[in-house]
Amino acid sequence: MIYLDNAATTFPKAPGTLERAVELYRELGVSPGRGNHDLAMRASDAVEEVRAKVATFFGAPDPTRVAFAANASDALNTVLLGLVRPGDHVVATRLDHNSVLRPLHHLAATGVIAWDAAPFDDAGIVTADAVEALLRPNTRLVVMAHASNVIGTVQPVAEIARRCAARGVPVVVDAAQSAGQVPIDMAAMGIGALAFTGHKSLYGPSGIGGLVLMPSLDVETSRFGGTGMDSASLVHTRSYPLRLEAGTLNLLGVLGLGLGLDFVSLEGVEAIHAREAALLRRLRDGLVSIDGVTVYLASGGLSDRVAVLACNVAGVHPQDVGAILDGDFEIAVRVGVHCAPLAHRDLGTIDRGAVRFSLGAFTTAADIDAAIAAMRAIATG
Ligand SMILES: Cc1ncc(COP(=O)(O)O)c(C=O)c1O
Repeated sequence: MIYLDNAATTFPKAPGTLERAVELYRELGVSPGRGNHDLAMRASDAVEEVRAKVATFFGAPDPTRVAFAANASDALNTVLLGLVRPGDHVVATRLDHNSVLRPLHHLAATGVIAWDAAPFDDAGIVTADAVEALLRPNTRLVVMAHASNVIGTVQPVAEIARRCAARGVPVVVDAAQSAGQVPIDMAAMGIGALAFTGHKSLYGPSGIGGLVLMPSLDVETSRFGGTGMDSASLVHTRSYPLRLEAGTLNLLGVLGLGLGLDFVSLEGVEAIHAREAALLRRLRDGLVSIDGVTVYLASGGLSDRVAVLACNVAGVHPQDVGAILDGDFEIAVRVGVHCAPLAHRDLGTIDRGAVRFSLGAFTTAADIDAAIAAMRAIATG
């Protein structure tokens, strides 16, 4: 089987990481931060070690401002609900995923906020001008996908953050697709908050992600519960990171995330990205040479994007393309509307969606050549 659905989740994970995570969990699998006994403290230390790794990986100065979450969606809910107040305005982008769009839609539908989505240009980029044009005096924050999960373009977040900072507006980045594929330095790029998920290009298991904050940005608690701290009080802990973590952590997930981060750091984000970009070019060049295949917004060298490519075959429904790739060629891809409805509307693919190929650290040139050959066979009937 050839797996080209890594934007959904990377598969397989790095050799040995899951085994090692389970081994550590067997040794330390008690409730971290909830007991004074030796094992609970060792479990807490293991969690804090991963917290520090996350902060370093994203160029954030303070590990206590790393709050673990279930995934990027969970972290985005935490930061959006924790920052906006009634009457606020929010700017997002038309490339955003439903994990940004739906919380904003909900907040708007319940009368809490108004929001606008900045358009992308012909190259699939949301420019700083496009974002700045939407800022209002009451804009509370800008939230945006760093990399599009449909077309793979990487947005000029540093420039956008610089312009927004001049207007006193923090930028919240959804790094679900970029973390592990694009170097991120929150301090250097001026990012106020970053949501990440562990199971994509950080090569961790599903069920773990997090929110990373710069110390200048305070986020209010939107979910309340036990933290193992101030237990006599009815008030949820105000200190970070527990302010944004209610209930027992996903310890196995945290351990797996730490090992995934070790793998990515050892390989090097730039090295992984360079390999994937070369394969992405190979895929794009192969697909555009096939009559009847349309590739969406994938011109140029592609070294400035994540390894995601969307296309369609004339006269064949994307669901059928996916079924044939799977059934006849044992190639796994994602088809349909990829949780980014505004992007699909603008690409003209909202009705049928598209076929999405997404590469990972273990994708080979042979995988790409097999995918091109399969698409040629489908396009020529
Ligand atoms: C751009 C983007 N944001 C957010 C998410 C949500 O990630 P998760 O499902 O891990 O919460 C995804 C997942 O596909 C994504 O591609």
